[in-house]
Amino acid sequence: MAFNLKLPGTVYGGKDSLQKIPEIAKNYHKVALFTDQGIRSAGITRKPEELLARAGCEVTVLDQLPAEPTYLQAEAIVEEFRAVNADLIVAVGGGSVMDIAKLASIADTGACRIRDMLSDPLIGKKQIPTLLIPTTAGTGSEATPNSIVAVPEQDLKVGIVNPAMMADYVILDGEMIRTLPPGIAAATGIDALAHAIECYTSNKANPFSDLFALKALKLIFASLEEACCNQDAMEAKNNMLLAAFYGGVAITASGTTAVHALSYPLGGKYHIAHGISNAIMLLPVMRFNKAACLKEFAAVYDSLWGTQAGGLDEKAALTGEEKADRLLERMEGLIRNLKIPSSLREFGVDAKDLDTLVEGGMNVQRLLVNNKRTVTPEDARALYLEVL
Ligand SMILES: NC(=O)c1ccc[n+]([C@@H]2O[C@H](COP(=O)([O-])OP(=O)(O)OC[C@H]3O[C@@H](n4cnc5c(N)ncnc54)[C@H](O)[C@@H]3O)[C@@H](O)[C@H]2O)c1
Ligand SMILES: [Zn+2]
Repeated sequence: MAFNLKLPGTVYGGKDSLQKIPEIAKNYHKVALFTDQGIRSAGITRKPEELLARAGCEVTVLDQLPAEPTYLQAEAIVEEFRAVNADLIVAVGGGSVMDIAKLASIADTGACRIRDMLSDPLIGKKQIPTLLIPTTAGTGSEATPNSIVAVPEQDLKVGIVNPAMMADYVILDGEMIRTLPPGIAAATGIDALAHAIECYTSNKANPFSDLFALKALKLIFASLEEACCNQDAMEAKNNMLLAAFYGGVAITASGTTAVHALSYPLGGKYHIAHGISNAIMLLPVMRFNKAACLKEFAAVYDSLWGTQAGGLDEKAALTGEEKADRLLERMEGLIRNLKIPSSLREFGVDAKDLDTLVEGGMNVQRLLVNNKRTVTPEDARALYLEVL
């Protein structure tokens, strides 16, 4: 199988990488800064705004972006953006903000609408360059050509994928997630974990995606808990930003699988946040996949812990199945420690919703075909039932 690696134009990472903004922005004049009210009111856009002004840019802030946007909400923001006549888009936000900013970058002239992109994702052409600065760690949207919008008519979330949406510049600066509330840090961190393990076990996995997925998993298991509970753990926070970015690179090179497929209707119909719905579906799907992914699970175990606890002897002594079980136990322990909701009941979902969920999940064939073990409608029903 041939494979390829697509990356954003230039990626700046680590301490003080935000200081690169003037250097990036100096060739532009009018900036549209995309963000949301939660982020702006937490003071997170102040520094980027200052640095853009220092570069001599005129900055218009669009701060009414909704979380987990519908395609109509995205269209309304893009319309507002068109009136700005910007020559650079800067997104300071989580996946919701970055996804709308990416859509705006290929829809500036108004010749194509977001609605049309749902059926013909490639109609948009890159018109305005983007600088993406994630404030969650995270979706990895800064590393993907994807934008996810809800389609209320279908109770679903749909991924619009167009290589023209790859970012031109990315900045990964731990300061942007220093004050991220622990609950959001936990759920978005498990989203990154899901990206990595799904891509590693995907039918589309390849040496490029494996490299980034494994490194993401290593960083997440080492840093996520500390990054969530300790505001000053800057090394852990920078690691999580790297992990989320690597997870995004893995998505671009490979593709997520049944966890994301079955989580889409949970976001689309019940408005469960993306990270939480993935955290809820992750273990049931990974257990379901175990027999088909023994080799991959064992390789993850070896790579992360095989030489630690019992040393090389343990690596050799454990069977593939035991290694897979230990990996699943570690995942379960991590999610439990982070206290992420684990049941759909908490969100008002019950047995009468099963048919709709199964139908919605089975519609996401774009991702289900990547799953190593075939998921039938009966399997999907059993997986949802496990978390009801
Ligand atoms: N394009 C992709 O490749 C991709 C991948 C995965 C998910 N997604 C999409 O991304 C969206 C979810 O993004 P997300 O999980 O990053 O959450 P989000 O962008 O929806 O943000 C969640 C909440 O966190 C707040 N917030 C964000 N950063 C903060 C900070 N530093 N401090 C305080 N509050 C902060 C926001 O105000 C918002 O209320 C979903 O729509 C999902 O489908 C896209
Ligand atoms: Zn995701």
